[in-house]
Amino acid sequence: MHYNVNTIPVGVLGASGYAGREICALVARHPRFALSFATANEQRGQRLRAGGRDITFSAPDDVRLEDAEVVFSALPHGASLTWVERAASAGARVIDLSSDLRPGNGGAPSSGRTAVPYGMPELSAATRARICGAQIVANPGCYPTSILLALAPLQASGLIASGSTIVANAASGVSGAGNAPKRELLFAEVSDDYRAYGVGNSHRHLHEMRATLLSIGADTDLVFTPHLLPVSRGILSTITVTLSEPLTDPLALFRRAYAGEPFMEITEDQPSLRDVVHRNVVRITATMVDGTRQPTLLVTSAIDNLMKGAAGQAVQNANLMCGVDECAGLPA
Ligand SMILES: NC(=O)c1ccc[n+]([C@@H]2O[C@H](COP(=O)([O-])OP(=O)(O)OC[C@H]3O[C@@H](n4cnc5c(N)ncnc54)[C@H](OP(=O)(O)O)[C@@H]3O)[C@@H](O)[C@H]2O)c1
Repeated sequence: MHYNVNTIPVGVLGASGYAGREICALVARHPRFALSFATANEQRGQRLRAGGRDITFSAPDDVRLEDAEVVFSALPHGASLTWVERAASAGARVIDLSSDLRPGNGGAPSSGRTAVPYGMPELSAATRARICGAQIVANPGCYPTSILLALAPLQASGLIASGSTIVANAASGVSGAGNAPKRELLFAEVSDDYRAYGVGNSHRHLHEMRATLLSIGADTDLVFTPHLLPVSRGILSTITVTLSEPLTDPLALFRRAYAGEPFMEITEDQPSLRDVVHRNVVRITATMVDGTRQPTLLVTSAIDNLMKGAAGQAVQNANLMCGVDECAGLPA
């Protein structure tokens, strides 16, 4: 393939999965990125039509990693890290969508590995600056994106009551589980139903959320209960937070914190999945709760798990790492 001097060649590992397909479609529409290779495992050799182009999936061992300046790894956790390290050794900037290098997982300094930046640009100005200078970025999980960005402004203002328990209930569409066949995710199993899973604080995203809350100074417990929603994509989180003092205008606090952020939407209405699917946004509202002894805030946050929760945020991080406009190629 021939590129002009402004084109940045991009490789996608795990391109046949839900997140990888979404990245391929975003890359196809991106003004600076061009797809150099796309890999699959069992689906190697198969074709995908993404962003008006035909893509043929290669086996990971058959691609030249050095052909790409940017590599997205949308491989399952556990399988991703080796490829992330290979791609970085070949000279690429790498965005890892798996949990392998996220805070509280392999990205923790306790693992003996130097922690890589956490790819959540809106978390703080320092976080965005770290992403800009990074060779490898750990792209956040979908649930953590919807929950942490709903909490960060409260923590930055010292409003989360010390020693309190944050309760986060979140419902995700079925694409959150990937596209490998699983009996419990068959249409007849999930349709017309709604249930919790990973109860009792057993979901693997808790490590990442706890580690990040600790890193921003929160002294709280977190009770996180995910739910399976019979829709294809989207996450809605309702988060109950005990405050150190009542807030007369909670929305003003969020608007101030996220002023100028192109992908943060603060709204008076309750956000719904229809507001956010196929868009790289987090849509948030916040309401003081009546009838509680402690000041209590309910924050509602909606994202598309495959977009701001995965591929969109990954492209946003790649834009920052490459010095390209942060919004390039992203549906706002
Ligand atoms: N789905 C989401 O909403 C979401 C959100 C945030 C982050 N993530 C993360 O993004 C990553 C991908 O998620 P996904 O939902 O797209 O999963 P998926 O649909 O199951 O896709 C996984 C991809 O990895 C390939 N693959 C699997 N095992 C492999 C191996 N041993 N070696 C090489 N390639 C292998 C698969 O190829 P074949 O299909 O050809 O076998 C497929 O392309 C995961 O780490 C996940 O945690 C997902």
